Formats: sequence, structure tokens, C-alpha cells
Amino acid sequence: MWQKIKLILKSVRQYKKYAIITPIFMLFEALIECVMPFLMSALIDTVDYGISTTYKGLPKERTINTLSDIFRSTPYINETLGLTMDVTVFGLMITLIVLAGLSLTCGILGGRTAAKASVGMATNLRSDLYKKIQSFSFANIDKFSSASLVTRMTTDVSNVQMAFQMLIRIVIRAPLMMIFSAVMAFIAGGIMATIFVVLVPIIAFGLFLIIRKAMKIFLRVFKRYDKLNESVEENVSGIRVVKSYVREDYEKQKFNTASDNMTGDFVTAEKIVALNSPLLNTTIHVSNIVVIGLGSYIIYQSTIDSNYWAKLTVGQMSSLITYGIQILMSVMMISMIMVMLVMSLEAIRRIAEVLQEEPTIKDPKNPIYEVKNGDIEFKNVSFKYKETAERCALSNINLKIKSGQFVGILGSTGSGKTSLVNLISRLYDVSEGSILVGDEDVRNYDLKVLRDNVAVVLQKNVLFSGTIESNLRWGNIDATEEEMKRACEICQAMEIVEAKPEGFKSVVEQGGANFSGGQKQRLCIARAILKKPKIMILDDSTSAVDTKTDKLIRRGLKNDLPEMTKIVIAQRISSIEDADLIVVLDDGKIDAIGTHDELLKSCEIYKEVYTSQNRIGGNK
Ligand SMILES: Nc1ncnc2c1ncn2[C@@H]1O[C@H](COP(=O)(O)OP(=O)(O)OP(=O)(O)O)[C@@H](O)[C@H]1O
Ligand SMILES: [Mg+2]
Repeated sequence: MWQKIKLILKSVRQYKKYAIITPIFMLFEALIECVMPFLMSALIDTVDYGISTTYKGLPKERTINTLSDIFRSTPYINETLGLTMDVTVFGLMITLIVLAGLSLTCGILGGRTAAKASVGMATNLRSDLYKKIQSFSFANIDKFSSASLVTRMTTDVSNVQMAFQMLIRIVIRAPLMMIFSAVMAFIAGGIMATIFVVLVPIIAFGLFLIIRKAMKIFLRVFKRYDKLNESVEENVSGIRVVKSYVREDYEKQKFNTASDNMTGDFVTAEKIVALNSPLLNTTIHVSNIVVIGLGSYIIYQSTIDSNYWAKLTVGQMSSLITYGIQILMSVMMISMIMVMLVMSLEAIRRIAEVLQEEPTIKDPKNPIYEVKNGDIEFKNVSFKYKETAERCALSNINLKIKSGQFVGILGSTGSGKTSLVNLISRLYDVSEGSILVGDEDVRNYDLKVLRDNVAVVLQKNVLFSGTIESNLRWGNIDATEEEMKRACEICQAMEIVEAKPEGFKSVVEQGGANFSGGQKQRLCIARAILKKPKIMILDDSTSAVDTKTDKLIRRGLKNDLPEMTKIVIAQRISSIEDADLIVVLDDGKIDAIGTHDELLKSCEIYKEVYTSQNRIGGNK
């Protein structure tokens, strides 16, 4: 765990100076606040002429009768310390005001630097996480789920930020305040200060019991909170599906149950924590009553009997009250930091888990920067999504595709079509065997070069908010308008652009929400064409396009990009029947390879699909 905390603390970086300077400000604030009650007691004692003149027979100079008396220097005697100071009431008052001002300044400055340090750290942490996530492979993302990554980048980072801010402000201040106050209490009150030695362990033990009980519940709640967060994110991102299946009531019910359970736990925990305050108040009251009761008695006795064993003045008693409050408050603060820290440990663990995750797919040591051609070869490829998975998503795949060929892939859902093509551009790495592109193992290429040359239009492809142009430029940042037009013409997307008054500048909403499924698919294909890849993979990418347009797209790809290897996954036989090669997959294995005519003769699965589709209504 310490390793993880260190990793998170590293993200303070350029804000380190603020993180160091904050405790220094806090140290000065604590020091000043501990000196002030002492001076206050001197002031009270100096002004306290009644007792000093009437009973002690002290020199008349210590009395204050007129305004000018407050400027007169008088001796202040602290008998516990054996200290004699020449003070003026006016001087003491000014000093106290200056000290109060200084303490305020330290507090404000400390607050500002603490905010700078913690906000800065959170910003760095977020950007580190973001960078890390960008380097993740599909396998890494599968491990965490996108929803959980979002929670880690937002809620968890905020928790760590708050804990860090508390830490640098209070972790030094509270213990110091406690120690200083205790020392000063002994200096000011002598034997009387032993009262705190008794009270501090009592309150500390009480707080410990309260916190221990509440923490257990809190940790449980946080785990549930996480689950709730994830389910909310999933639900909100899939809100359209929820609505189309009229599942709102069911989802509401599910949410309410989860939320009610949590509320119950939270209330119980908060109820327990709420006991903190009465406990502190009661202890402070007890401390005050004992200090005032016992103190007054000692003051009275020591005044009438100068040989009395204990000595105390009114000023000293008042400072003891303040020190008592400061000591007890510090104990409370220390306990709160502990709670905060323990609670943020879970957030730290979750953030560190992402930061420590190694991307499963990395560039090789001496990468190849050129893909010679669009040849593809699968050699004895087997693939599992997780090492621990029982079943292989693909097993024993052997397949050769020549540059420029048009290859169709067919198979029932879950047969491994997507898995097969995702291996070519290294979205996942093979578990066994190897895949060659342009006669080189894909693992030897520079990742960017490989992915630029192997364009995949994913089954779940999306457009991003911006304009049509900005989306197309993802394929090629320097594409000219001519090139964009050309790409759109090939895949029948130009009619979408032309139908919009702003053409290429038309706005695309988040996730491409203002385009239909078929329009999105065509724009995604255009984006891939702009990359000028040597291999293009369409994973069910024309499923939402009518058969006529589908045919035109295929013809466009074939005629305009003859050099490019085209792999098309399709549900409709009509989409692939004119392919040079058709691969039929079944349960992660190749069932048959051949042309349409060959497969109709030799492959049962293919024949079955063909007849069923033709019977249903001539999808041709
Ligand atoms: N990210 C993943 N993690 C774990 N298992 C997965 C993952 N994606 C797919 N699988 C499993 O791998 C197998 C093959 O899935 P794949 O997506 O390749 O099928 P497919 O042929 O593309 O299906 P469809 O026609 O429905 O798109 C399935 O059994 C599926 O459950
Ligand atoms: Mg698929």
C-alpha cells in the first residue's frame, strides 16, 4: 500500500513547493495561537488590579485607574516560570492584535497554498490517468470496464484531492497544536494542567470507538457506492435501449433498491459519527468546570496564603481554559484525519491500480516502419480473451489472403468473426501462433504504422462530436477537400454530406446522435478510406445500409481501391457473394474456405444460410 501512496504523491510534481510551504504556514499559525492565550493571561493579570492591590499588597503601579495607565510600564510576574517582564497594557494589546493578524494571514496563505497543491495534484493525477488509459489495449480496457475508469478519473481523484488538502493543512498543525498547547498549559497552569493528561486519553478512546464502528460501515458503503455508480453510468449511456424496451420502471426500481440500501448504511454511519461532537463538547465542558472550579479555589487560597502549595492567577486560569479547548480540538482533528485517510485509501488503491497497469500491447524494440503490401497470413492462430478463460475464442486458424483480394467472412453470432479481424491490427494479441501482414509478424511493426495500414471499421464504431470534416480528418489530418469528397463518393457517403446545408462543416453531436445508423456507418467507412490503408476491414459495417447502396459501396471499394485488401464481415450473403474468398467460421474454427459457388456445393452451413436468406425474401 505504501508503494501505491508514494505513486499517487508523485503526481504533486510542480506543486511540491506549495505542498511543502503549507505545513510551514500551519506551523506558524499553531505557534501563534499557542502564544496568544499566554499573553492574554498576562494582560488579564496586569489589568486585574482588584486582587493584586487588595490582597497581595503589590505595588500600586500595577493598578489601572485612568486611560494613561495603560501606557505605563509595569512589571508582570509569572511565578510558575519565575518570569518577570516589564509590560504595558497598551503594548500587550497591540502585540495581541498583531499576532491575531499574523495568525489570520498564515491561515489564509496556508489555505491558498493547500488548495493550489491539492488541485494541482488532482489535475496531474487526472492527466496521468488519462494518458495511461490512452495507452491501454482492448484487453486492458476489458479488465476495468469504461464506467469504472470514468469513476476512477472523477470521484476517486476528488476524494484523494480532498484527503491530500486536509493532510497538508492539518497533519502537521493538529499534533503540533496539541503539543504546544500542552507545554503552554503546563507553563501557565503548572499542576493544574495535569487535568488534560487525564482527559485526553478519555476523549481519544471515545473517538477511537466511534470511528472504528463507523469506518466499517463506511468502507462497506463505498464499495456499494462504486457498484451503484457503475450501474448508473451503464444505464445512462444505454438510456435509449432502456427507453425502447420500456424498462424505465424496472431500472428505477433497481436503482431505488440499491440507493435505499446505501442510504440506510450511510445514515447509520453518520449517526455514529455525529456522536463525535457531543463527546467533544462534553469533554470540553468537564475540562472547563474542573479548571474553573479547582482554579478559583487555588486562586483564592494562594491569594490569602502566600505559602499555599499551588499558585494560580485569573489570567493563567483563563489561558488554561483556552489551552484545554485547543488540546481537545486537536485530538478530534487528528482522529478526523485518520478517518479521511483510511477512506481515501480505497480511492488510492483504485487509482494506483490503473497507473500500475501495464499496457498489454506495446511497440516492439526495433519496430518496422513500412508495411510492404496487403498480404495477410494466419499461422496456427489460437486466441483467448483472458489467460484464465476456459474456451478459446479462436482455435487453429490457418488462412492466407493475397494483397488486393476481397475476402468475406461469414458465421453465426459469437462464432469469432470480430475476434479474428481484431487480431490483424493488434487490437488484441494472439495467444498462440502468429499473424503476418506484408510477410512480417504484426508484433514487429510500429503500432501506429500497422494501424494506419490496417484500417478497421469496428462493429461498434462511433462518430465523435465536432463536424463531419473533423471526423473524417481522424483518418488523415491533412486530407484535402478533394480527397474527402473522393472517399465519400467511394462509399456512397457524399449524398449524406450534400443533404446538409453546411456540407462537410455540418455539426456532429456526441456519439453521432444526429445521424442515422446507416449514415454513421458510411461516414465511418469514408474515415477509414482516408487513411489510404493497405488493408481495410469492415466488421458488419454496412448492416444498416440498404442492399442497393451496400452493393454500390462494395463496387466502389473494388474498382477504386483495387490494391487494397478488403475483408468484409457480413450477415447477408449478398454482401459477400462476389468475394474472391469466403471464410466460414463456426465456434471459433474455420469451417470452410472457398468462393460462393464452391461453398454452395461443399459447405453445409453456407448452404443453410443461403437458402434461409433467399427464402425469407430475396436479400440479393
Ligand atoms: N471483450 C471480450 N471479452 C471476453 N470475451 C469476449 C469478448 N468479446 C467477445 N468475446 C467472446 O468471444 C466469442 C467470439 O466473439 P466475437 O465477437 O468474435 O463473435 P462474432 O462472430 O463477431 O459475433 P457477432 O456476429 O455477434 O458480432 C464469443 O463467445 C464472445 O462471448
Ligand atoms: Mg462481431
